[in-house]
Amino acid sequence: MAKNKALNDAAKAKQDEFYTELRDIEDELKYYKNYFEGKTVLCNCDDPYESNFFKFFAMRFNFLKLKKLIASCYVRSPIAQTQLSLFEEDKPPQERTPYTAIMIELEDYNGDGAANIADVEWLLKNKKGVVKKLKGDGDFRSEECIELLKQADIVVTNPPFSLFREYVAQLIEYDKKFIILGNQNAITYKEIFPLIMQNKMWLGITNGDKSFKVPKYYEPRATRYWQDETGQKYRSMGNMCWFTNLEHKRRNEEIILYRKYYEDPAQYPKYDNYDAIEVSRVLEIPCDYDGVMGVPITFLDKYNPNQFEILNANDFRTNSNVPEKKHGLIKDKDGTINGKATYARILIRRKK
Ligand SMILES: C[S@@+](CC[C@H](N)C(=O)[O-])C[C@H]1O[C@@H](n2cnc3c(N)ncnc32)[C@H](O)[C@@H]1O
Repeated sequence: MAKNKALNDAAKAKQDEFYTELRDIEDELKYYKNYFEGKTVLCNCDDPYESNFFKFFAMRFNFLKLKKLIASCYVRSPIAQTQLSLFEEDKPPQERTPYTAIMIELEDYNGDGAANIADVEWLLKNKKGVVKKLKGDGDFRSEECIELLKQADIVVTNPPFSLFREYVAQLIEYDKKFIILGNQNAITYKEIFPLIMQNKMWLGITNGDKSFKVPKYYEPRATRYWQDETGQKYRSMGNMCWFTNLEHKRRNEEIILYRKYYEDPAQYPKYDNYDAIEVSRVLEIPCDYDGVMGVPITFLDKYNPNQFEILNANDFRTNSNVPEKKHGLIKDKDGTINGKATYARILIRRKK
């Protein structure tokens, strides 16, 4: 049993090692620029020597007018200080020890006319107290990492996939603002969906296909995998989502509805087991139907809370915490049409 668990944990930990590309971070974070002035940003699954999240904020420390930038990393990261590097120079001697980097300023230390990544490197290497060893293993749930979390206004990272539920629960518990990268599948987790339903968290803007650097040990696969000319391995995934609780422009854009239910109701079949119509494409949501509609999960990409309310999800196997029988839904049973199960659906209603 213990051996199985260890193998399982090791397999899960491997899935956690996906390193976010700078361009993906830039593409999303440009929409939140105005939130950062005077704020403390925490990247708590991020080795400051390797993480592009840390790099993004460190390079823009002055531009974003940050008060403080904190990064902390995890001892068990299998590539910690061995593979990726933001800097040309050698790494510090604390091989494989978890540590934090805390920046409260960025200046043109090398006098080349600009405060840039070379100055970040100088700061980490030379300024006393910026890089500190952690006492524990750097687990985001550890006491000392929670102390860092308490200091933070906004948490921004790509957390370990296998701990996504706990990661989000902790952000909510400490009432933090956040922009984090995750997998679309997380939407249907029973711990996550209620937060989306209650508008405590929503999707960011640039969701979808993303590629990631992966460690050397990553096993080649037939699809969505490649190596560059240096041998660096990459993996891509088509269903990545940003999750946030910061308002952004997309949330205020209305989906343009042009289909009419009453012109041809047959195109919107009713579920056998509850009173809602099936809308299989987000763009086909009718503009004249006042009742409950089952829509694909991709609806959340365009969700505007002023236009629609989210009532429930029909995938009760994964959403068993969602209130039962609200709006006539049947627990433990997916939506079916003529006895055939539909895909996972989110149940929404137009706001008047
Ligand atoms: C998906 S990777 C992303 C790394 C980095 N944030 C990035 O975007 O490039 C998640 C990282 O979290 C680390 N990690 C795993 N478990 C952790 C934990 N309990 N606490 C903190 N970090 C953890 C992993 O080692 C891995 O480096």
